[in-house]
Amino acid sequence: MMAYENIIFEIQEHIAVIKFNRPKALNAINPAVLAEVSAALDEIEANRAVKVLVFTGEGEKSFIAGADIAHMANLSPLEGRKFSREGQDLLLRIEKLPIPVIACVNGFALGGGTEFAMACDFIYASEKAKFGQPESNLGIIPGFGGTQRLARLVGKAMAKELCMAGNVIGAEEARQIGLVNKVFAADALWEETMKTAKLIASKGKVSMRGIKHCIDRGLDVDLRTGCYLESDAFALCMASPDGSEGMKAFLEKRKPDFKGELS
Ligand code: CAA
Repeated sequence: MMAYENIIFEIQEHIAVIKFNRPKALNAINPAVLAEVSAALDEIEANRAVKVLVFTGEGEKSFIAGADIAHMANLSPLEGRKFSREGQDLLLRIEKLPIPVIACVNGFALGGGTEFAMACDFIYASEKAKFGQPESNLGIIPGFGGTQRLARLVGKAMAKELCMAGNVIGAEEARQIGLVNKVFAADALWEETMKTAKLIASKGKVSMRGIKHCIDRGLDVDLRTGCYLESDAFALCMASPDGSEGMKAFLEKRKPDFKGELS
């Protein structure tokens, strides 16, 4: 097991938690953070008991204040491309995980922070959270998928305005434009996130994977192809012990006991 210095990684019951932990730089992302998150994902993928992953920031102030500007300031174009690709690859890997991933945004989620949160399945935010793609203030552009995921989440004109103006928006505005699902008081955020994480962890793993992949892959293709993806994933649920158990439990008027097999 890797010794983590820039993240805190824990598994509590069926829920894995990754906390960004570079308080002196407000949890800015450098290559070491990318490597440690990647190693934690290796552990999560090898552990069949994990049913949900939650990302959050250690401390009161920040989720992630962006990619590490001190690191980026000296990159050559090819090194810049490599850093961007490494960030993008990690976020694509998070998106492809078969388990639901929640971003619990406790403070600043700027640049790479908004990008990281958008690669999760949905975002819960503290009322103190701040979002934005302020890269244009640095003479650069988002490099961890921000121009792509933001446009898909909030629409093309809103994404352009946020990236071009480089302004920071509060949690409530982020909710209104569809970036954030729910906003909570700062001291309620963690408990509310865990409540939802536990609820999701109580479901069948095959159905969680099916929902995630059908929605994500379906948005990349035309409606008919997306519907084919859905019927195949639906069929897989019929073949899974959790699918049989869930429907049988309903008919027997009892709570289902999902085992998470065929994951
Ligand atoms: N990279 C490196 N260091 C950072 C950082 C970042 N993104 N954000 C904050 N820090 C560091 C500061 O340099 C400061 O370090 P020192 O104490 O050593 O001076 C420390 O964290 C605390 O920050 P501030 O003193 O600035 O704290 P504040 O409360 O006054 O302001 C803030 C907070 C508004 C988030 C401000 O720090 C800020 O604007 N940060 C940069 C945000 C940003 O531009 N993010 C986008 C980065 S580019 C990107 O992400 C590219 C991509 O898509 C891949």
